[in-house]
Amino acid sequence: MTATIETLPDVLSPVRFHQVGKTFGTGRKSVVALDGVDLEVEPGEFVCLLGASGCGKTTLLNLVAGLDQPTAGRIELNSSRPAVVFQEPALMPWLTAAGNVELPLRMAGVPKSQRRAKAAELLELVRLAGLGDKRPHELSGGMRQRVALARALASTADSTDGKPALLLMDEPFSALDAITRDVLQGELLRIWRATGTAILFVTHDVREAVRLGQRVVLLSSRPGRVVQEWDVEDAPGAVDEINTALRKVISSHAA
Ligand SMILES: Nc1ncnc2c1ncn2[C@@H]1O[C@H](COP(=O)(O)OP(=O)(O)OP(=O)(O)O)[C@@H](O)[C@H]1O
Ligand SMILES: [Mg+2]
Repeated sequence: MTATIETLPDVLSPVRFHQVGKTFGTGRKSVVALDGVDLEVEPGEFVCLLGASGCGKTTLLNLVAGLDQPTAGRIELNSSRPAVVFQEPALMPWLTAAGNVELPLRMAGVPKSQRRAKAAELLELVRLAGLGDKRPHELSGGMRQRVALARALASTADSTDGKPALLLMDEPFSALDAITRDVLQGELLRIWRATGTAILFVTHDVREAVRLGQRVVLLSSRPGRVVQEWDVEDAPGAVDEINTALRKVISSHAA
C-alpha cells in the first residue's frame, strides 16, 4: 500500500504577507518603502522585526493595522482587530487611565459594567491597579505606556469570533530610560505568556529583539525586504551574529 501524504490544513496564522510591496507617491518622487516582503506570524508567536531607520518597519505595521494599503502583493489577515502600541502612548488626555483602557470596548459596544470590569482586570495585569482614576499627565512615561498596552489588550481581548489575537508594537519602549525599559520588557513577556496573543514587535535594538522575540526577522535597508531570520528562543548568543548582519545591512545602504 502506498502511503499518501495529506497536507494538513493550515493553522490560521494571525497575519501572512505574500510578496507585499509599498510605494509612496508616483513618478520620479516616489519612494519604494517595502518590496517583496514575505512574512508570517504564527498564532501566539512573538516576532521581532529589526531594521535600520527608514527601512519600512512602521510602514509594514501600518499595513497590518489597516492604516494604509499595500501597492503590491497581498496581506492575509486572520486576526479580527490588530491593536497597535506606538512609540508615544497617544492617550486621550481628558480621559482617566481606566477611561482610556475602556475606550476600544466602548467603541465595540460593550456594556458599561462589563467594560469597567475588563479595564480593572487589564490595569491589574499591567500593574496599575488603583491608578485607574489618574489622568495621563499625572502618570510617568512608563506608566502611560502601560496604559497604552492595557488599552491595546482591551481591543484584542473582546474578540468573540475565535480568530487569533495580534498585537502590533512600534518601538514602544524606545522613549523610556534604560531601567524602565528593562522592567517593561519583563512585564511584556509576562503578559504575552498570560494572554497568548501573537506579537509583532518593531525595534532597532538587537538586544531587545533577542530578549523578547522567539524569532527575529531582519529587514534590509529601503526598500525593506526580509533578508534573514533567527530562532532566538534560548539563544542569547545570537546577539553578536545579528549585530553583524544589521551592520552589514546598514553599511550596504550607505555605500
Ligand atoms: N506617508 C508617507 N509618504 C511618503 N513617504 C513615506 C510615508 N511614510 C513613510 N514614508 C517613507 O517610507 C520609508 C520607510 O518609512 P518608515 O517610517 O516605515 O521607516 P521605519 O523603518 O519605521 O524607520 P524608523 O526606524 O526611523 O522609525 C521612509 O523613506 C519614509 O520617508
Ligand atoms: Mg518607524
